Amino acid sequence: MLASALPEWQALAAHRDSLAHLRLTDLFAADPRRFDHLSLRFDDFLLDFSKQRVTPETLALLIKLAEKRGLREFLADMTAGKAVNATENRAALHIALRAQGGYAVGDRDVTAEVQDTLARMRAFVARLRAGEMTGATGKPLAAVVNLGIGGSDLGPRMAVAALSPWASATVDVRFVANIDPAEFAVVTADLDPARTLFIVASKTFTTSETLANARAARGWLAAAGIGKEAAGAHFAAVSNNLAAARSLGIPSERCFPLPEWVGGRYSLWSAIGLPLACAIGMERFEEMLAGARDMDRHFLEAPFAQNLPVAMALIGLWNSDFLDAPTLAVLPYCHRLAWLPAYLQQLEMESNGKRVTLDGEPVDYPTSPVVWGMPGTVGQHAFHQLFYQGTRTVPCDFIVPLHASAGAGASLPENAAESQQALVANALAQSAALMRGRDRETARRHLLAAGRTADDAERLAPHLECPGNQPSSTLMFPELTPRSLGRLIALYEHKVAVQGCLWGVNSFDQFGVELGKQMAREILPQMPGGAAGFDSSTAGLLAYARNVFSRGRTP
Ligand code: F6P
Repeated sequence: MLASALPEWQALAAHRDSLAHLRLTDLFAADPRRFDHLSLRFDDFLLDFSKQRVTPETLALLIKLAEKRGLREFLADMTAGKAVNATENRAALHIALRAQGGYAVGDRDVTAEVQDTLARMRAFVARLRAGEMTGATGKPLAAVVNLGIGGSDLGPRMAVAALSPWASATVDVRFVANIDPAEFAVVTADLDPARTLFIVASKTFTTSETLANARAARGWLAAAGIGKEAAGAHFAAVSNNLAAARSLGIPSERCFPLPEWVGGRYSLWSAIGLPLACAIGMERFEEMLAGARDMDRHFLEAPFAQNLPVAMALIGLWNSDFLDAPTLAVLPYCHRLAWLPAYLQQLEMESNGKRVTLDGEPVDYPTSPVVWGMPGTVGQHAFHQLFYQGTRTVPCDFIVPLHASAGAGASLPENAAESQQALVANALAQSAALMRGRDRETARRHLLAAGRTADDAERLAPHLECPGNQPSSTLMFPELTPRSLGRLIALYEHKVAVQGCLWGVNSFDQFGVELGKQMAREILPQMPGGAAGFDSSTAGLLAYARNVFSRGRTP
């Protein structure tokens, strides 16, 4: 049954109508303890959702919906390793990767395989970081280039940037994802082939971008005199298809397994995290796992009303389905989290960008919002104007770690404490100003105080008016560390799973992406000639591209 057919959904719709005339400022005025009523703590994580267009009653009604949708049962099935990814008949047991045992897929306990991979990662990372891993010429390997895309790239890429203060000064970790040859060229331009290790990361080991970049790496090594036979010393692999990895000449002891029951976008905690572990060391990597484990425990044990991932999920669903807000802006006030919006785009949109329920029934409500964003304060000077005076409701997640810390090898400037205070003040100012807005009369008075004539003030006031009432949540925690990053990512993972359950969709498959891949496979052979079977647009574009290719570059 669709969620929208339930009486709980209808109750939410009626409740939404009853709130429609109220503004956030009214809600704050009516309840001086609104923050206390609509914020949650988990250890040193504070989630404030009092600036969302909700009341305690909204949350209570949303929890009723969650219960009716069988959230408890869904979580029990997911953690029991049942095939909640029903279309692919797979479990979604990424939680087991950071647990200290106790999880099974069907009746197969996975503790040993998880611990075995961690032990192999420990040994690998220790040797590399100690300068004991050498390339074909006998020189120690000092640069790691991860070749992967999507879930085999974004997690470690995001986390390496986020945890840069802990990065080794001796191992330089980089990423190549795009099939655009420019990325490989730029990333490897200043690297010494004799000292470079490539990690080919691909769950399926069939992804064309990653395989093309692995071939590029082969060619790059060969050009430096490291031929096919010797090149094995410069490769490692992470995959669920280890036979394919080995057939590329990657030595078995350098091939790390990625279990089938871990989806790509949930795989940071697996050997897909190897480049991160190379950068920050295994001890820090395991601190990140411990952080995720903290959040797992909270998620699985706290009552829904006190549960951070559940609250975030319910509010997201409310904004998307009852307030018609089509997007979610993710705004980390922390430059080290610059890759977080991209990471969450895959996590949320590939998981819940679905249009039919598990039973194949089309939904009649919106599912995943379009997730986007960039770090504050940079985004303030790019797109916040639309939040203030545009025509759309744009829910925002402000993510605010409080203490500053620079990247490895970088020391903070002398005025860092002052700048950090300003950064945090800006986050608070944005959420408050977006909520409060500025009415026309205030705008008029502002103009008069700035020396404008009464006529000018009258004429310009509408242009300074900001309606406010933009909903936002703020997540604060003391500092971005391996542990808090683990908590943060697990928080969003669980939020996505809860929303998938409420919407009734499968959060763990991604069949849509296949269509584009298939089309690329059809177009590629026709690049040199022919355009059979394509629409006139694709055929026209193909003809233009072919013409330009045939003429070569303009000198
Ligand atoms: O194309 C989408 C996708 O299948 C993602 O789900 C996945 O993370 C990415 O491609 C990479 O896949 P693989 O790890 O198999 O190379």
